[in-house]
Amino acid sequence: MYTVPKLEDYSEAELDRVFAELSREMYRDLAGCNSEADVEAFRVKWLGRKNGILVQISDSWIKGAPKSARREVGVRFNGLREQIEEYAVGSLAIAKGEKTVQLGTATRVLGDIRQRETDAKLASDRLDITLPGIQRPIGVKHPVLRVMDEIVAVFKAMGYSIGDGPEVETDYYNFESLNFPPNHPARDTQDTLFIAGQEQKPVRDRLLLRTHTSPVQIRTMEKQPPPVRIVIPGKVHRNDPLDATHSPVFHQVEGLAVDTNITFCDLKGTLDHAMKALFGSSVKTRFYPSFFPFTEPSADMQVSCIFCAGKGCRKCKFSGWIELLGCGMVDPNVFEFVKHNGYDSSKVSGFAFGMGVERIAILKYEVEEIQLFYEGDVRFLEQFA
Ligand code: PHE
Repeated sequence: MYTVPKLEDYSEAELDRVFAELSREMYRDLAGCNSEADVEAFRVKWLGRKNGILVQISDSWIKGAPKSARREVGVRFNGLREQIEEYAVGSLAIAKGEKTVQLGTATRVLGDIRQRETDAKLASDRLDITLPGIQRPIGVKHPVLRVMDEIVAVFKAMGYSIGDGPEVETDYYNFESLNFPPNHPARDTQDTLFIAGQEQKPVRDRLLLRTHTSPVQIRTMEKQPPPVRIVIPGKVHRNDPLDATHSPVFHQVEGLAVDTNITFCDLKGTLDHAMKALFGSSVKTRFYPSFFPFTEPSADMQVSCIFCAGKGCRKCKFSGWIELLGCGMVDPNVFEFVKHNGYDSSKVSGFAFGMGVERIAILKYEVEEIQLFYEGDVRFLEQFA
């Protein structure tokens, strides 16, 4: 609490001294104002009703003044009060957002306060906008999945439904029900990865990593009586050494159509259409005799070389044709396993096919090595973005 000095007398010199002293005090206070709270403290100290400096002057200096000095003290008092009111009241008015009061120096004082506050806030909120940002490149579908989806879409457009099945399969679904009898040499064409430690189980229950998507043919026919038109995309495994075109893990799309009066013509027409949809309308197909235990007759389907349009080049070993998939008419022995569900080979017939997705992707995108699909190298993958 500030107490005004004692007045020795009411001489002009004494009044000059004390009012000069008060003026200095006031400017010191103003200079120390750094916030709106400081301005409020200033107001209380100088203008406060209880013990503000102006009240003290009025109580002790004016009231005790001899008549001759009253006017003089009053004039100086009013001058001081006007100054203070201009500063403190004006500053407060601005602080509260009342722009109406006129304000002179107070505007500048408060402007300085505001500036200091803004500077401090800016300094603490400082953000270096020249730092490089974090790039989050948008990913794309893997080329193998993309081709798989494309193949599926071609068949979907022909009215096929889409199914799937387990990657860990039983010997029964992967082999036996597809007319590979136990110990039959046809099993050797699909070098199989078996789950270890199952010797005590009957052979048909032993688990393995499916070597093809064909087991889902049987699973589908067990669930659903004819007619059937289905494609089954999925991952398969074989104990094949990795080379430029083989990988122990790869993908297939299986197809199965069963109905009355399905013929080899339907198979040819369907696959010919699918190949034209995938590789362009100028591509040709041909069917070459082959063998699979679960189809009879069986065929390898070849497409005219997409690199040389059938003229003969290094890619097609100068034959003009590229072998693309296995197919055939469903063997009646296969229907025997699902006879109970309406698959009577004297009434229904069907065709099936299975194609390697990577093989098609390699041809479509002219990829040199199958491994490139699995290495996750962005420099390779981003070419498909
Ligand atoms: N599952 C056979 C394979 O993986 C391909 C195939 C499917 C052949 C359907 C005929 C019918 O080699």
